[in-house]
Amino acid sequence: MSKRFLIAGNWKMNKNAQETRAFFNQLKNLLTPTIQSELLICPPFTSLETAAHYNQTTQIALGAQNVHPELKGAFTGEISPAFLKGLVSYVIIGHSERRTLFGETSAFINQKLHALLSAELKPILCVGESLQERKQNKAFSVIETELEEGLKGISADQASSLTIAYEPIWAIGTGETATPEIAEAIHAFIRKWLTNRFPQQANSIRLLYGGSLKSSNAQHLLSQPNIDGGLIGGASLEPNSFIEIARIADQIRK
Ligand code: PGA
Repeated sequence: MSKRFLIAGNWKMNKNAQETRAFFNQLKNLLTPTIQSELLICPPFTSLETAAHYNQTTQIALGAQNVHPELKGAFTGEISPAFLKGLVSYVIIGHSERRTLFGETSAFINQKLHALLSAELKPILCVGESLQERKQNKAFSVIETELEEGLKGISADQASSLTIAYEPIWAIGTGETATPEIAEAIHAFIRKWLTNRFPQQANSIRLLYGGSLKSSNAQHLLSQPNIDGGLIGGASLEPNSFIEIARIADQIRK
């Protein structure tokens, strides 16, 4: 049986509480007929309560865009996994914007991963190469290192709560998308890596593609055998375009 797609919106630093309310109110009207793919929205922390409130009647999962590995303490400006528990089911970690703009290392991302698993929150670990790395034929080795370091120390049991997002840095927010062939080659590589490590779980771990995914390219990307959904930035900010991608996904895996 094929997996259910996960269609996830990463809002980044967009939408205050009022805009979040408007989004969910609009979204509600777009959910009939029922969508089969799993839907997930990751708003900024300050909009999470509002999202949870206006999302009560829908089946949309909520996620956070970041977390700190410690449960509490002197970490000014940070958010604990304990605060997210009950409010979200997924948490994005290792996004390239956090790695490059905020200097997050794979070791730190690995600590976050363990903290999330302990709190029974589902991590979405992002991996992806830069344009320079791709041009130097280093894409596969970069992804392999990010998997090795990011997933260090997790058990096979814990692996079943994972989602991995492949987001080529050169495709994020640029309008430039990886071709379905490029994306599938990396996804197949990630699947193989997971199969070596977690033979029982590897096939059920969802692998998302991210990087300028939108309704005009969703069909080709989501049709690839190892692509199980999308992590969508720009195109998730507008309810119609987000839902259009989910409907395309539903058509592929009916
Ligand atoms: P994008 O962002 O769809 O705007 O390229 C994707 C992401 O960074 O998660």
